[in-house]
Amino acid sequence: MSLLEEIDKIKLQVEAFAKENAEEFRLEFLSQKGKIKSLFGEFKNVPNEQKKAFGQRLNELKEKAQEKFDELQRSGKRQTQSTISEIDTSLPGIPHPLGAKHPINIVKNDIIQIFKKIGYSVSEGPEVEDDWHNFTALNFPEEHPARDMQDTFFIDKDPDIALRTHTSSVQVRVMENQKPPIRTISPGRVFRNEAISARSHCIFHQVEGLYIDKGVSFADLKQTLLYFAREMYGAKTKIRLRPSYFPFTEPSAEVDVYWGLKTETDYRITKGTGWLEILGCGMVDPNVLENCGIDSSVYSGFAFGMGIERQAMLKYQIDDIRLFFENDLRFLKQFVSLT
Ligand code: PHE
Repeated sequence: MSLLEEIDKIKLQVEAFAKENAEEFRLEFLSQKGKIKSLFGEFKNVPNEQKKAFGQRLNELKEKAQEKFDELQRSGKRQTQSTISEIDTSLPGIPHPLGAKHPINIVKNDIIQIFKKIGYSVSEGPEVEDDWHNFTALNFPEEHPARDMQDTFFIDKDPDIALRTHTSSVQVRVMENQKPPIRTISPGRVFRNEAISARSHCIFHQVEGLYIDKGVSFADLKQTLLYFAREMYGAKTKIRLRPSYFPFTEPSAEVDVYWGLKTETDYRITKGTGWLEILGCGMVDPNVLENCGIDSSVYSGFAFGMGIERQAMLKYQIDDIRLFFENDLRFLKQFVSLT
């Protein structure tokens, strides 16, 4: 095959190049080792009288190849551009599922907010407690039957250590470490050695409150609890106080809110009375103040304590306390919108 025929052959190949890849084209025809470059290398072997014609044809081929290459590059760019513009940036993204706050936390935070508004701070303490903070300082004498009111998880090796049965233990710590006036609430987890049922659990949560100052009276306690009940359950909520007994308060009371008797469930949960117990309270026993280094002839105070589960069950009409601890997503997801 003569060199001129060779040029024609390559020209046909250039025209017929069907792939859309500019780089492949460049490698085959235009690079240092490509077909056209090597034809230029043949130039010196062409007889002088043919050099002019050969050169012309070869240049034509090179120009043609260059044009084709430019065209391939342009259409390549157009393609990447068009794939980019196919991404519709106005489409909504893929949503990430949102977690929800646990209903116990929602209610705990509600209660904290209600008391913060009237100047209460938040105190915390250990869940593993000693006998002094959980019982003795709170006027539960040793061997006294009142200790049986709260079935306790003790630790085998050391009868002095227990899981706290209430967060009153935190209040003892606060009174030991701060001077009145004291106005604090202590939210936290507590433990009681009780059979698990729809109504009670061996782990639950409490918020307890303590107010100590000069001249604090039972009227202050009642008004504080009325304020709480109305913030929590609605502005028209009615409460009543029934006499009760706690070793650490004297006098002591239990507080009911009026739930009403509109539905059959109301009859069931209020045992037909329309009233529901929500918390225990009383004036701090002077013995407790003295145990914690506060002069009971100068200061008086009140305390109250409530179970968070109970408030949450009332607020969200949950009829089984075990649901709070099972972490069943079908239950928890219902609280996403409240988070
Ligand atoms: N500590 C009590 C309980 O766990 C509640 C309570 C607190 C009652 C403060 C009166 C005053 O049941």
